[in-house]
Amino acid sequence: MLDFKYSFLLVFCFWWHGSFELVPLPDFIHPCAELTDECFTKATLDAIPGIVKGIPEAGIPSLDPLYLDRNISMDLPGNLKMTFHNGKLIGLSTCIPDKVSSRREKRTFIFDMHCNFTIKGHYSLQGRLLLFNLDTDGNAKIKIWNQRIRLEVLEKVVTNAKGEGHYKINSYKYKADYGTDLKLNLTNLFRGSAEISANVLQVLNSNSQLVAQEFGGPILDYAIDYAMNVTQKFFDTYTYDQLSPIPLTDDFFVKE
Ligand SMILES: *[C@@H]1O[C@H](CO)[C@@H](O)[C@H](O)[C@H]1NC(C)=O
Ligand SMILES: *[C@@H]1O[C@H](CO)[C@@H](O)[C@H](O)[C@H]1NC(C)=O
Ligand SMILES: *[C@@H]1O[C@H](CO)[C@@H](O)[C@H](O)[C@H]1NC(C)=O
Ligand SMILES: *[C@@H]1O[C@H](CO)[C@@H](O)[C@H](O)[C@H]1NC(C)=O
Repeated sequence: MLDFKYSFLLVFCFWWHGSFELVPLPDFIHPCAELTDECFTKATLDAIPGIVKGIPEAGIPSLDPLYLDRNISMDLPGNLKMTFHNGKLIGLSTCIPDKVSSRREKRTFIFDMHCNFTIKGHYSLQGRLLLFNLDTDGNAKIKIWNQRIRLEVLEKVVTNAKGEGHYKINSYKYKADYGTDLKLNLTNLFRGSAEISANVLQVLNSNSQLVAQEFGGPILDYAIDYAMNVTQKFFDTYTYDQLSPIPLTDDFFVKE
């Protein structure tokens, strides 16, 4: 009898303590009661603006603009070397999911989306372009319209010491194109001659696919890695039960 009372109390305390600690789900997160592409796509569309603004109670900072904490160096044709620093990526809030699907048996989510991005920062450039020797630096701005991204995220659910299930991102990969249009602008490109600067810019812009690949690639790598880190924080804050009303089969769970 004593045992029974005691365990009842223990369960009660555990339950009370557990639910007291759950961080309430933000109102822009709409869990899907069914595993359809329509529901996941709509839920992602609803969630993006709120997540991008940041969720302080989950330790998620604002993501638009996203500040880059590292320098990016690239080699452009004709022995040109360009370094980009103090960069920021503007536009994660413009991302529109075209289709989000879940392959539950493979524990994979696939996000197809498109975004308009502006990348701003400081550049330095050395090398030869056309007839000119360049050794300059200034402000860089690159606009990419309708960049398509396909992101595949492999995840599992892990139960913690409190018995709560949480999503954990196992791995991810992505593919992206370079958008439907791209425009690069560099200030102070050729000191003293606006005309030569414009010419050089034109050459760079006519190689825009290459510029996008060299320039945009590492920045997108960074942005997606950052977004995945943020998503993991989100999953660490909210439990599987909060995020999904659909019970899991045992094979989905991993005890830690
Ligand atoms: C980035 O480049 C700038 C300018 O060249 C330099 O001052 C800074 O130390 C570099 N930062 C890192 C993290 O390498
Ligand atoms: C990107 O910009 C174009 C032109 O301003 C606009 O038509 C399009 O809807 C935008 N796309 C996104 C994903 O914001
Ligand atoms: C590049 O930026 C400068 C400074 O903001 C601006 O004056 C110039 O018109 C821009 N050039 C192009 C080709 O957009
Ligand atoms: C994401 O997290 C990992 C592990 O903590 C870290 O090494 C990496 O630098 C982070 N990525 C970004 C873009 O901040």
